[in-house]
Parts: sequence; C-alpha cells; structure tokens
Amino acid sequence: MESGTALHAFDETAGGDIRDPWTPLAELRRTVGVLSSSMMQGLASPDMDGAAGDLQFTVLRYDDCARVLRDNTTFASSVYKTIMGPVMGRTILEMDEPEHRRTRALAGRAFRQKTLERWETELIQPLAEEMVERFASNGKAELVEELTFPFPVQVIARILGLPHDDYPYFQRLAFTLTSVSAGYEASIRASEELAGYLTPFIQARRQEPEDDLISDLATGDVDGERLSDTEIVSYLRLLLPAGSETTYCSIGSLLLALLQHPDQLDEVKGDRELIGPAIEELLRWEPAVPFIPRMAAADTAVAGVDIPAGSQVTVCLGSANRDETHFSDPDSYDIHREPQPNLAFSSGPHMCLGMHLARTEMRLVLSTILDRIPDLELDPGPPGSPTADPHIHGVGFRSPTCVPVRFTPSP
Ligand code: HEM
Repeated sequence: MESGTALHAFDETAGGDIRDPWTPLAELRRTVGVLSSSMMQGLASPDMDGAAGDLQFTVLRYDDCARVLRDNTTFASSVYKTIMGPVMGRTILEMDEPEHRRTRALAGRAFRQKTLERWETELIQPLAEEMVERFASNGKAELVEELTFPFPVQVIARILGLPHDDYPYFQRLAFTLTSVSAGYEASIRASEELAGYLTPFIQARRQEPEDDLISDLATGDVDGERLSDTEIVSYLRLLLPAGSETTYCSIGSLLLALLQHPDQLDEVKGDRELIGPAIEELLRWEPAVPFIPRMAAADTAVAGVDIPAGSQVTVCLGSANRDETHFSDPDSYDIHREPQPNLAFSSGPHMCLGMHLARTEMRLVLSTILDRIPDLELDPGPPGSPTADPHIHGVGFRSPTCVPVRFTPSP
C-alpha cells in the first residue's frame, strides 16, 4: 500500500470528517454528565460499535473519567478482547489485574528512561533530520503525507531493530493491519503475515540478544516465566496502532495548531523552552484518541446514573480535557496555560506506556523543522482543492486533514 492510499484508509478508520464533536459534547457534559447510548447518535467511535450489548454509557466530566480509569476492578479493560482481539491477539490493553501488571512490567522495562535517551540520539533525531531534509529544498510540502504519517511507524521499526531494507514491507503490513477500510479479511491476513515476519527475529534474538526491543522482550521474564513467541508477537502488533497512529495524529495536530496560531508559533521559535508546553497543550486540546472503552464488571453508578454490570462504558478523554471546571477557556489552544494533568494518555493502570516516547517524537519533529525551515507557514490550496481547508477531524482518532506549507527553499 502506497503512503497516500494508506493515509486515505486511515482517514476512514478515524471515523470521517467530523470537525467539532466538542460543542455538542460540552453542552451534554454540563447538563447530563453521563450519556446513555441513544444520546450519542453518531459521535461514538466506529471501533466501539457493537462491542458490547445494548447497554452503553459515555462519561464526559473530568473527575468521573479519571475515577473510571483508575478503578479497573469495577471498569474492566477486557472489553478490548472483542474490539481488537481477533486481529491483534491477546495484548496488555485487554488484560486486567494481576496479569496486566506482570506483563506490563516486562514491556515497561523496554521503555525505561535510559533506553529512551539512547533512542532519541541514535534513532529518532537522525530519522527526523533525514525526513525533513527530503523536502527542505522544495519550498513547499504537505507535511502529513511527507512527514507525520510515515514518521512514527519508522521509529517503531528502528526500535524493534528491523533491517532497513524491510521498512517499506513492514510499513505496508502495519497500515493494512490497522485499516478498517482495507477490510477485516485483509487485516487478519496482515496480522498473520506480520507474525510470520516477526517470529524469526524473536527466535534469533533469544539465541543472540541485540540492543533492541525485541531482544528485551525475548530474554526478559515475568515472575520467572518467559513470554512465548505468540505473546511477544501480540505485544509487537499492539505497538503499531498504539504507537504509530496516535503519534502520527498528535504530531500533525501539533504542527497545524501552531501554524494556525502564528503568534504562538513565533513565540515557540523564539524560546524553545515553550516546545514542551505547546505539546502538553495540544495533547489536552486535541487528544489523538478521544474515546476509550471499558466494561462495567459489577453494577455501579457514575454521576448518579446507574450502570448495570456488563454495560460498555466509554470514557471521553476529549471531553474531560475540555471540562471547564478544570481548564479555563477550554476550547482555546493556549501554550501559556497553567500546567496541570490531562487525560490524553489516560490514567490509572493502563496509562499509555509509550507517552514519553510520544512526547520525544513530537518534540524532535517540531524542533528539527524549526531549525531547518525557520520561515515555515501554512499554505492552503485554492478553494475546492484537497488542501484548501486544513483542519483537525475524526472521532475514533483526531488528526489533521492535511498540513500544506511553504517556505524559502534551502539547499
Ligand atoms: C501522542 C501519542 C499517544 C497517545 C495520545 C496515546 C494514548 C494512549 C491511551 C489513551 C492509552 C490507554 C488506552 C486504554 O486505557 O484503554 C494508551 C495505552 C497504550 N499506549 Fe499509547 N498513546 C500514544 C503513543 C504511544 C506510543 C508511542 C507507544 C509505544 C510505542 C504507545 C504504547 C501504548 C501501549 C503499549 C498501551 C497499553 C498500555 C496498557 O494497557 O497498560 N502509545 N495510549
């Protein structure tokens, strides 16, 4: 699959051109707090359709969302088994305790701070430079297609230690695996093909470990027990959607947000210390994954609404991040906002394992662009053209339609 086709397929996975789910949700957040399925009408993620019976609830307020995410005894993650299991296999996302804690600990070791620092200098920064270099002399670029879409999956390929020549093959399998529009059968085939491709690497790294993530997983143990090849393959499969789609969305949204707020972009150019706040604010304002699912394991209640055992409970991270009782003027993108936690990476036991990596990728792409192309500006195409109206859209994922830019070409 070419990058352009894969990109189109991803857009369909993301759930169509919904530009502003936040305004209707804000009203419901203030007045109701917890929605039953009938109130959602078109706002639910396509990933979640039919995942659990008829009883569906969506939690909108910050404190309620945080409570649901932290209480994984009452609100179980096993719901992912139905949503993702058939394609992904058994992953830590669908595990509850104590299995989740044990397995996550092993994977977590691979994401420790020291490793991340090494990846930053040896893998991620050189890749960012290489990719920006490819269009720096052109004077214009469409940053989604030329940079933000292919970048994170290549980071993962490098972290896994896959041979450079295999990147296009790996990237194609990765996109087919996660594209709804590629079709269920194609996703299952890609999933099996990926297992066939990765298993020899796992077996080789068991014999002779190298300095990469597959070796960490192949040689580490959970309470004295090694992960099987199948468990490692499932974990690696999860990294594709978890680590590449989310990060692609967030890098693109960050670039578009700054280009559409040129005063704030100028401030970031003048003071690189503002890159961190610009990233945190983007994660709050447009989290890549606005809805995540849980299943009520027992009868319970949220914000006074009774939720029977077995109901699907969708946590709306995007609404929580715009809860006016936590964030003043929540619909504005403001890099000078008082720092405080938000739920873009979730909270509680399943909080994103790759959040430091994601932040690192966002920081390095932005700083590399600002260093190499300081006069970058948004350059929408003429009315009616595909790049005429760049905007963030989607429901399952939030990502920019396109980020067309122009600048002074440099050799
Ligand atoms: C800006 C980019 C990212 C965002 C917004 C994001 C968001 C999230 C969210 C919301 C969850 C929780 C899902 C749930 O509890 O149902 C999650 C889990 C996870 N993320 Fe990320 N993620 C990002 C990047 C990454 C990266 C780069 C990786 C690794 C390469 C990664 C790996 C994971 C894994 C393995 C989990 C499962 C953790 C568990 O179940 O214990 N993520 N992510």
